[in-house]
Amino acid sequence: MALQLKTFDEYKTAYQRSVEDPEGFWADIASTFHWDKKWDKVLEWEFKTPDVKWFSGGQTNITYNCLDRHLATRGDQTAILFEPNDTEGEVRKLTYRELYHEVCRTANALKSMGVEKGDRVCFYMPMVPELAIGVLACARIGAVHSVVFAGFSASSLADRINDSACKVVICSDFNRRGAKNIPVKKVVDEALALGCPSIEKVLVHRNTGDPLNWNKEKDVWWHEALYDQATTCEPAVMDAEDMLFILYTSGSTGKPKGVVHTVGGYMVFAMYSFLNVFQYKEGEIYWCTADVGWITGHSYIVYGPLLAGATSLMFEGVPTYPDAGRFWQVCEKHKVNIFYTAPTAIRALMAAGDRWTEGYDLSSLRVLGTVGEPINAEAWHWYNEKIGKKKCPIVDTWWQTETGGILISPLAGLTPLKPTYATLPLPGVQPCLVDADGHELEGDGVEGMLCIKFPWPSIIRTTYGDHERCRQTYFSTFKNMYFTGDGARRDESGMYRIIGRVDDVINVSGHRIGTAEVENAINEHEAVVESAVVGYPHDIKGQGIYAYVITDRPVGDLVVFEKELRNTVTRIIGPIAKPDVIQVVTGLPKTRSGKIMRRILRKVAAGDTENLGDTSTLLNPEVVDEIKEGAKGVVA
Ligand code: PRX
Repeated sequence: MALQLKTFDEYKTAYQRSVEDPEGFWADIASTFHWDKKWDKVLEWEFKTPDVKWFSGGQTNITYNCLDRHLATRGDQTAILFEPNDTEGEVRKLTYRELYHEVCRTANALKSMGVEKGDRVCFYMPMVPELAIGVLACARIGAVHSVVFAGFSASSLADRINDSACKVVICSDFNRRGAKNIPVKKVVDEALALGCPSIEKVLVHRNTGDPLNWNKEKDVWWHEALYDQATTCEPAVMDAEDMLFILYTSGSTGKPKGVVHTVGGYMVFAMYSFLNVFQYKEGEIYWCTADVGWITGHSYIVYGPLLAGATSLMFEGVPTYPDAGRFWQVCEKHKVNIFYTAPTAIRALMAAGDRWTEGYDLSSLRVLGTVGEPINAEAWHWYNEKIGKKKCPIVDTWWQTETGGILISPLAGLTPLKPTYATLPLPGVQPCLVDADGHELEGDGVEGMLCIKFPWPSIIRTTYGDHERCRQTYFSTFKNMYFTGDGARRDESGMYRIIGRVDDVINVSGHRIGTAEVENAINEHEAVVESAVVGYPHDIKGQGIYAYVITDRPVGDLVVFEKELRNTVTRIIGPIAKPDVIQVVTGLPKTRSGKIMRRILRKVAAGDTENLGDTSTLLNPEVVDEIKEGAKGVVA
């Protein structure tokens, strides 16, 4: 069976079949992979507890499908093309054969360090090929990887390590990002100092070679651990529903949760979605600018492209270093055919000025993509005109950490486009819109909360160590549906436009941040009694973070106080969660039951103070005027 759909009609036929006969549909797709043992049952599911199993009884190893399977046909083709942070730095090309051997050596090194099937291994690394190699090495031996974005603080890292009791943490010495050289191993040392009793070893990849603190008991150099390892390693035989990885993400309450994906379904969907959304053609250069610390990097830098036998470009740097033309310089240099990035990067580069796009040969580009947040019309058109020269379809891909792969998106060149619309569901995906009472909104031209009615192969299986939390968060709001947390509109032609989160999650530059987490961090400051954090529209970041703060003492110099608060948040979560705006208030608008009325705070933060709605039922209506007045004086 050809996995790649070639026309819009083929898409429609496939979609229809995926709804009428989901098991037959996915069985045909799964049959194109290598399985050590075929599945007994394609799908068993119920959304109540929830309990979803795909391809149960089947056995395989995802790295066999990413690597071994390609050796005979494309062993000498580049699998990972590495572009370093510095324009003068060394480009690395790992062929499928080289990647295979590196993964095997690393897998053997992990084994010799005592890592076994089922053990959790944490990664805290920059965007270097060793991160992809390490992740695949875990999958090779059946260890569960948990990649933590290397911008998170020591305390966030420690929380994540401890939540899943990781045995080993793998890091680099330093992280080159633009003009900075960020100490990475130092953050790991700090995390361990906070207490990570499960960690037995720290495997350190030498990236820059700058001096480091070294703990002889625990620290092991990557190159030494790999030195005399064999270049082959039998893949662990994994059940389809064995855990492949954990990835922590923020929700509306509490600490980040470990989203769990399993081997079989994730594998099938990652490759199917990659091939169809981007319409990847043999030999093309594909570049996704995300970080492997997020789901986009997992599914569309590492697994999807490698499963499909693609050449995946991995970029260590940032879009604005050495200048705002870097992305386009890299596209020209490597003749990139498919380019996939976040709207926030597009807006930032657009704001830097068109001159940075000029003078580069972008004629190799064939498909453009966006992910992570809604793309505004202005950015969409700029991307289409200045980068795509109106010749490249733009795939606006909607999905989530929990969905494992892209669920709603045009298929490049097949699906008619509509700016700012993610358009139509992939085959196998059954979205619906519901109102606040959980009634499904039928027909077109409606707006509601986005849910999915039927399981797709890479649906979240559980939240690590707390299955009840998974049920509560995603499967309890609406009966028999997966609730995404997003609001969406369906137009007259049945196309979807994602509006944004309807819960207390904010999306800052495509990074998902829980307001409760930021509040907890702010509350750690000794002068703070209570705080409330909301998102507000931000030209570049999509949303900015607005914090209302109550203190128990005069704060003195406001500039100093705000700096302290931002430092506190950076220390506890990381710089990505720093509030953009801080407003000191004497009270927060509360209902009689003591709940903060966030609706009012959001409106004030957005500068929309005229239509605050009915505030008379508040416990403390007087505070609203004060907040409105105070908002005029704050600076972003
Ligand atoms: O609000 C949606 C937004 O990002 C959220 C998921 O965040 P995360 O799990 O970090 O994954 C991001 C990368 C897949 C969603 O609930 N989002 C993601 N893609 C889009 C989007 N919003 C609008 N349009 C998109 N294309």
